Amino acid sequence: MTVPAVRARKASSGTGGKGAEPLVMVTAYDTPTARIADSAGVDLILVGDSVAMVVLGHDDTLQVTIEDMVHHTGAVARARTQAMVIADLPWLSYHVSAHETVHNAGRLLRAGARAVKLEGGRKRVPMVSALVDAEIPVMGHLGLTPQSVNVTGGYRVQARDPEAAQAVVDDAVALAAAGCFAIVIESVPDSVARAVTEAVTVPTIGIGAGPACDGQVLVLHDLLGLDGGAAPSFVRRYAQLEADAVAAVTAYAADVRGRRFPSEAETHHLPEDASGRPAQPSGASGGATRISSPRTDAGDRRAG
Ligand code: KIV
Repeated sequence: MTVPAVRARKASSGTGGKGAEPLVMVTAYDTPTARIADSAGVDLILVGDSVAMVVLGHDDTLQVTIEDMVHHTGAVARARTQAMVIADLPWLSYHVSAHETVHNAGRLLRAGARAVKLEGGRKRVPMVSALVDAEIPVMGHLGLTPQSVNVTGGYRVQARDPEAAQAVVDDAVALAAAGCFAIVIESVPDSVARAVTEAVTVPTIGIGAGPACDGQVLVLHDLLGLDGGAAPSFVRRYAQLEADAVAAVTAYAADVRGRRFPSEAETHHLPEDASGRPAQPSGASGGATRISSPRTDAGDRRAG
C-alpha cells in the first residue's frame, strides 16, 4: 500500500470512483500484532501512541516519547508487512518547532514507518507543510484528539454543537490543503464525519465516527477482546482473546501442579549409546554431576 493508493480510495474521487472499497486500518505495537494485522490483509497499520494506554499501562497517551515510538515502530516494521505502516508523532514531538517536527518524523521513518500521523487542525498547518516539504507523508487526526485530554477534560464525543462541527470541517479542509494524504476523525457524531468526508478530497478514516468515512480504524486489542473490558461503546469485538488466554494459562498451571506437564514427548532425553543403554550422568560422588557420552541433543532453538 502506498500513499497514492490510499488517496485513490477516496470514495467519491475520480480515481477511486463512487463505491471505492473502504480503507481498513488497525493499530499494532509489536511484531506479532503487526503480523496478525498483515496476515488479515489490512491496508494500513498504525503504530498508535495508544500504545501508552493499551500496552504500557499508562492513564493517557502523553506518557510516550519519541524514543518509545521509534522502538515500537521498529518492532512493527520488522514484521515486513504489505500494509503501509504509519507511526504516531507523540505529544511534544511536533509542538515546538518545524525543525524538531521534521527531525522526529525522520526518526520514525528510519525506524520503518512510511508516514506519520499528528493530532490537531489549523494550528498544525505549519508543521504539516514542513513535513510535506521534507517528503514525509502526513496523516491528520481530528475530533477527539487524546493528546489534548488536559485541555478537553476527558475522552468525550466532540463537535456536538454547530460551531464545533464547523471547526472540525474547517480544520480538515486546512489539513488537506496543507498536504495531509488522509485524516482520522475520532469520536464525532456521524453527521459531522459525513460533512468532513464530503468537504475534503482526501480519504477520511473514522473511529467512533459512523459509517460515512472513507475507511475505519480500530485499536487491535479492542477488536480482539484484549482490552480488559475497557473498550469504548463504538468498538465491535471480533474475538475474546483475553478470556481465551486466561483459560490457556489456567490450564497450563493446572497441568504443572498436577504433574501432567511436561509429558514424555515434551521432554529431551540423552540419545542411547552404542550398547543401546541411555547415557548416564557420571561423577555423582561429591562434585558437580557431568554427563558421560554420547553428546546431548543438538540444542533447542530457544536454549539459553
Ligand atoms: O493512537 C491511536 O490508536 C490512534 C487511533 C485511535 C486512531 O490514534
